[in-house]
Amino acid sequence: MKNKKITRKITQGVYILTTINGGCCVDAVSQISSGSNPLISVSVMKDNYTNTLLKKNKKFALSVLGVDTNPKIIETFGMHSMKDIDKFKEVSTTKILGVNVIDESLGYMICEIVDFIENDTHTLFIGRLIEADIYKDGEAMSYTYYQEHKDELLKVTTEMGKTAFVCTVCGYVYYGEILPDDFKCPKCGVEKELFEKRD
Ligand SMILES: Cc1cc2nc3c(=O)[nH]c(=O)nc-3n(C[C@H](O)[C@H](O)[C@H](O)COP(=O)(O)O)c2cc1C
Repeated sequence: MKNKKITRKITQGVYILTTINGGCCVDAVSQISSGSNPLISVSVMKDNYTNTLLKKNKKFALSVLGVDTNPKIIETFGMHSMKDIDKFKEVSTTKILGVNVIDESLGYMICEIVDFIENDTHTLFIGRLIEADIYKDGEAMSYTYYQEHKDELLKVTTEMGKTAFVCTVCGYVYYGEILPDDFKCPKCGVEKELFEKRD
């Protein structure tokens, strides 16, 4: 493949996906039908704790992040697992139809899961919109914006004089001269192609 980074030009946003007892940061969200209760899909890694919860709860919320959202929300939900920390203790949320919605967001969508499709690494969950609201006006954070500003958003620094590879999705830093062939980000699970080298 000549340059996979062109996929970053697919217009995607940055959202916090929540369900009962967990959630994670996502960009792989798409509206797949229209009407009063449209279908919305979200793709979630099989290794994510959120994936197991979604299959159990059959319900999710998507909170839309703005460009001025506190980056701590992305860090908490996108760089840690609910297996290790209670994300809802770190970030202020309000329960709507049983699901925690992020208070510091532009608004939310609540969906009931109607179907899911498994592929090798991810599950594509399809939900029907049952509730939604706008909290405030503002520019939604695009995934391109996140990629362009992630250094300042996540304050990723590497040790001087050491070769490092930084995960362009979650900011995980791997020190070493080369990344092993089968390397996957231990924090967010993406492949080695999504790491950038820093010297
Ligand atoms: C900006 C950003 C976008 C992400 N997009 C996705 C995504 O679309 N799907 C996914 O499964 N994980 C995505 N992740 C990674 C998860 O948020 C991350 O693996 C999280 O720690 C999983 O938490 P959990 O184990 O509690 O479910 C993204 C992370 C970031 C920072």
